[in-house]
Amino acid sequence: MRLIFTSLATLLLLWCNAQPITPFPNRYQPQPGQLAVPAKLTISAAEKELAALIPVFARSAKDFYGITVNEKSRNGFIRLVRTKQISGAEAYKLTIGKNGVVVEGGSDQGCFYGLQSLLQLLNEAQPGGTLNCAVIEDQPRFGWRGVMLDESRHFFGKEQVKQILDLMALQKLNKFHWHLTDVPGWRIEIKQYPRLTTTGGIGNHTDPAAPARFYTQEEIAEIVEYARQRFIEVIPEIDMPGHATAAVKAYPEFNGGGSERYPDFTFNPGKEGTYTFLTNILREVTGLFPSDYIHIGGDEVHFGNEHWSALPEVQQLMNSQKLKNLVEVEHYFLNRMADSIQTIGKKVVGWDEVVTAGLPNTNTLVMWWRHDQKPLLNKAIAQHYEVVLCPRIPLYFDFVQNKTHTHGRKWQGSYAPIEAVYDFPDNYFSDGISVTDPLVKGIQANVWSETIHTPERLQFMLYPRLSALAEAAWTESHAKNRERFLERMNSMLKLYQQKGINFFDYRNPDSPEIFGPEK
Ligand code: ACM
Repeated sequence: MRLIFTSLATLLLLWCNAQPITPFPNRYQPQPGQLAVPAKLTISAAEKELAALIPVFARSAKDFYGITVNEKSRNGFIRLVRTKQISGAEAYKLTIGKNGVVVEGGSDQGCFYGLQSLLQLLNEAQPGGTLNCAVIEDQPRFGWRGVMLDESRHFFGKEQVKQILDLMALQKLNKFHWHLTDVPGWRIEIKQYPRLTTTGGIGNHTDPAAPARFYTQEEIAEIVEYARQRFIEVIPEIDMPGHATAAVKAYPEFNGGGSERYPDFTFNPGKEGTYTFLTNILREVTGLFPSDYIHIGGDEVHFGNEHWSALPEVQQLMNSQKLKNLVEVEHYFLNRMADSIQTIGKKVVGWDEVVTAGLPNTNTLVMWWRHDQKPLLNKAIAQHYEVVLCPRIPLYFDFVQNKTHTHGRKWQGSYAPIEAVYDFPDNYFSDGISVTDPLVKGIQANVWSETIHTPERLQFMLYPRLSALAEAAWTESHAKNRERFLERMNSMLKLYQQKGINFFDYRNPDSPEIFGPEK
């Protein structure tokens, strides 16, 4: 008898899990009956503020699935309601009843997420079809559900970014970390220092002479607003004191030199003018991004800071500040910039090097990326830093996703297949790290673009791993099921096909790898 009950419960779970919503909701309760979807879909909002969600929903329904929604209805087939009964900043309840659909949220963002779940169900049903009656009560596992895009190595442009934001929003991802500066190019207009883009914007990882590509401040504002309407926060990264080559090419007076392999890699930490220059830049950046955070990189400075030893002003700094070596100089630099950011009124984000630099834990969020250095993550948590988990394996999406692929990165034979992305972070840590620690804010995939030359390859590396990331970030482990997820992907892949998006078809792993011109 017990066996029958267990089997029935498992069957029910599997059936629910097959409903085409990604990320899968944390609580899906089937109800008896079906709801006929009218040929002409209508939507209405109980409160004025919620009305702003309607045009975005109507646009997504049209763009993604070709479904037309009448936005002007008074008593819609879909009704949006804000209610205090739902707590949790991003929580929602979606009720598919016999007479219509009600989307409830404690916040606009919650209602928005309810609409994203509904959108995916409507695609399966289509107007004229039917929806299974159900009650979904849902909220995310992690508050930080991020994607980082590197546009310094290769520049993809506004339309690609908007497409990523669209697909992030559909799958309830909420942080877009924009890596806008690095060795090959500086991609954000700074009015006070125009050469950053006119000179620093020239070139990319493939072609150092490629014409300047960058975002004007108007374009940045447009993208930030586009993201805001989809409840995505945009976090800019201005990498320092390493990865500074494009900037110091434009303003050589702040060049701290480099190494043989990485020439002109750093800012000069011995000059007061460097701190003023960078603080002025960050002030301008602050005006463009409403996010609480600014990312200042801080990674891999040792790649190219050996020239610092030869600079008299760095020697002077070491004497006056009693700094024993170049690592202490690096830490001095990062603390100075963290002070500036605090004064500007923002919080610092840095790669995990900032833990060793000892930035104030009250104002710093750490991105743990060195998957081969788990003790560093332990240290960050022990020192009360908030952390976001983005280990190279499996969350660097420039790593290949199939063992036959040859054009992306691997790490001692390891790579980042969709299954490993999906399973993260469950069973990833066996050494006392608890992902339920409140300091663990969430997870993020990083798309570095040294080996991603074209929009087609960008899409190939992003999709459908983006969906695995979304479910890993949103769905609690008890509601995850990898096989069901992969089956559910059929409906997402159909969307990509219809939209002409070049995804990696893991169902057919021998399909050709998409890549751009090699260097
Ligand atoms: C990094 O991959 N250098 C953060």
